[in-house]
Amino acid sequence: MDVSGVLRRMIEESVVKTVIERTDIVRLISEYVQLRKRGGRLIGLCPFHREKTPSFTVNGDKGAYYCFGCHEGGSAVDFLMKLENLSFPEAIERLAERLGIEVVHTERHNDHARQSGKSREKSFYEVMKSAESYFVSALASSEGENCRNYASRRGITPEMIQSFGLGFSPESWDGIVQHLRKSGQSLEHAKELGLIASRESGGYYARFRNRLMFPVHNIKGDIIAFGGRILDKSETAKYINSPESQIYVKGEHLYGLYQAKMHITREHCAILVEGNVDVVMMHGFGFCHTVASMGTALTEKQAALIARHTKRVYLMYDGDNAGRKAMCRALGILLTQDFEGLYAVELPKDDDPDSYLRTYGAEGMQSLIDNAKPLGIWCIQKKCSDLMALVPELRKSGYGELSDIIHEFPDKLSRHHYLEEAARYLGVDTKRLAIELGMNLEYQPQTEVASRVEIEKIQYDQIEWDVVHLVLVSPQRYQNFIEQHGLDLIQNPGLRALLTQYVNVEDKDNTYAVLSSLGEDSRQLYEKLICSCPDVPEENLDKWYHGALAGLVRNWAAREHQQLGYSIAEAVKRSDAEQVSLLLAKDQKLIAMMQETEKERQFCWQTGVS
Ligand code: CTP
Ligand code: MN
Repeated sequence: MDVSGVLRRMIEESVVKTVIERTDIVRLISEYVQLRKRGGRLIGLCPFHREKTPSFTVNGDKGAYYCFGCHEGGSAVDFLMKLENLSFPEAIERLAERLGIEVVHTERHNDHARQSGKSREKSFYEVMKSAESYFVSALASSEGENCRNYASRRGITPEMIQSFGLGFSPESWDGIVQHLRKSGQSLEHAKELGLIASRESGGYYARFRNRLMFPVHNIKGDIIAFGGRILDKSETAKYINSPESQIYVKGEHLYGLYQAKMHITREHCAILVEGNVDVVMMHGFGFCHTVASMGTALTEKQAALIARHTKRVYLMYDGDNAGRKAMCRALGILLTQDFEGLYAVELPKDDDPDSYLRTYGAEGMQSLIDNAKPLGIWCIQKKCSDLMALVPELRKSGYGELSDIIHEFPDKLSRHHYLEEAARYLGVDTKRLAIELGMNLEYQPQTEVASRVEIEKIQYDQIEWDVVHLVLVSPQRYQNFIEQHGLDLIQNPGLRALLTQYVNVEDKDNTYAVLSSLGEDSRQLYEKLICSCPDVPEENLDKWYHGALAGLVRNWAAREHQQLGYSIAEAVKRSDAEQVSLLLAKDQKLIAMMQETEKERQFCWQTGVS
């Protein structure tokens, strides 16, 4: 169904036409992409996919753009819709605003009510905007010296302050009241927005005082709330936040999303952190695709908001126990949306993203992110490692929580997958653990055909995914993969099922034949896989493949090594010296293998990507 067609009728056709005619696509796109003239064309780096050499072109005469890399193309309206995740009428309204054209809606009977609702909303935004400029100039003034020092002590640079519109709410009880009055803002509205409160004796006073101010934006960039952080440790709450209002509902927004959204689109993923300060620092260090849930436990609305922009999320909460627990809870919320990849980035116990960046810099942060684990696996392992810290008799007491985590997964196949992971980690038999956790699995390995939705929901390991892609598109690599027993290295049940069926396909060069011999789920997976190439230059794909394969071998060895650890511990307990030395020797080999494959992986990776 053509949604834009249906919605289009809401704005008068003539307005739509004028807006499209009058919009200068080059100017619009130049606000997002640095365009250069090459030959007769304007080219730049595509904002819709990651690339190092420009393949994004704009044709100003025709009012169109097209990317030769990702085949994304269309008009100025399409560009805005895609990049800012707007509906058709929203995009038209935005373009009209730029041109100073008034948008006329066709449903006239609604017009009046909407108009007055609109102007009220507009007044709220104006009040917020005015408050922001008050806070911003206060920060720059002599009053703001303490706050500026505080920010600089924390490594918050003037650039960060500027790009997030950070400000300072002065000590004064009525400074903001006077400012708003002088700028002609409605004080009643300012009160509804929680910027000021009524005095019993009449008049108003400032709610935010002596705090570092973080404006919160909606997706369009209007300010809808403020968070005010105290400058130093004190008795009062660390943050005062705006209350809910006509323009702000708690749990429906993400701090930093307005600044991050373009980068999220470009990076194909988002990083989710806890604190406002973390977002500001992450952006300052180049991780501009970071947003925060603003203190509340992550909500489904927030998860849906992220899902509108990307299918992959890296979760990086504070390293303390509370942060880790919150990550496990966020898993269930994120699983209500259609994400393709959810990852856990684990910080050391005493760190949050902000402190980690200040100690280890962008490079340290990047390698932490590179080592992210699938979130489901991470949660299971966290829980299991907590359990392993207990004496065996007490472990059962934690099975309830373990079972809760596993049951966050809506489908049986994933639950099975995570049950196996838990069993492996705890060193117990899967079936036994299933019984202990009260799970009815009807154990059906391999032959169990997952539904499409089930396959979607399993989190793919990116390396596994890329390796399988590379193997499926090249007979030589496929040959190599089989010789290397690659199938044993793939953990994901869906990918395994597909490969197992693929091995038996006779005419692998004939896509039609391949598709018709695969089962329904594997076929869909196959279609997706062959269309999603890793972002590596063509000539480096082979090297890259070997690096990735080495990575899978390393992971395999790491799992074996971990498993062996349990056996060694048991042998030690039994005082079986002979067995211990046997196992230790075996472990040595695994460790050597891990080191060797790791080197190979890194080598290939670097040469592969550059
Ligand atoms: N928060 C809040 N009220 C509090 C504490 C926290 O609203 N009393 C929200 C804020 O949005 C804050 C987020 O929860 O950004 C995370 O809390 P925290 O990590 O304590 O704050 P940071 O902003 O990271 O500040 P800092 O690291 O400097 O303590
Ligand atoms: Mn923090």
